[in-house]
Amino acid sequence: MERKEEFFRILQELEENPDIQKLRVFSQHNGNTTFQHCHNVAVCSFYLAEKWNWDVDLKTLAMGAMLHDYYLYNTKDMDLSAYRHGISHPVTALENARERFDLNPKMENIIRSHMWPLSFLKLPHSREAVLVNLADKFCAYYEINRGIRRIEEILGKRNRKAANSNFG
Ligand SMILES: [Fe+2]
Ligand SMILES: [Fe+2]
Repeated sequence: MERKEEFFRILQELEENPDIQKLRVFSQHNGNTTFQHCHNVAVCSFYLAEKWNWDVDLKTLAMGAMLHDYYLYNTKDMDLSAYRHGISHPVTALENARERFDLNPKMENIIRSHMWPLSFLKLPHSREAVLVNLADKFCAYYEINRGIRRIEEILGKRNRKAANSNFG
């Protein structure tokens, strides 16, 4: 199976999981749901892997991206400063994800290190973790500053060849 086809098959299966669907009730950046943000990060991570021709484990990448913000609360409902949330939510996300999913060490590191360099000592240890770390910042920028809902809108424009593909 072609890599792209396989990645989107894995991602779709994951997104249908009821425990992942829970992310739909939480919102973050500019009104985007956490589900949509995590989907964006997954698509963008894979886009970068393809662009740079990085050999990555597709399941690890998809799971790490979909679970990186699995903290299951709305920031506005919590008595947390933006800095405190920035530092603590990867820990909460990892604890929640461990309870519901069978994670490999790479997936755990993706979740725990996605806020690096804010989480100074928790560095990304794999290509997959570097991709999610970068894609998270890229997507957050477009969601917050440009009001983008689906990152495919941006990736499609940046890559004409992919205009009719899963990238938009
Ligand atoms: Fe995050
Ligand atoms: Fe995120």
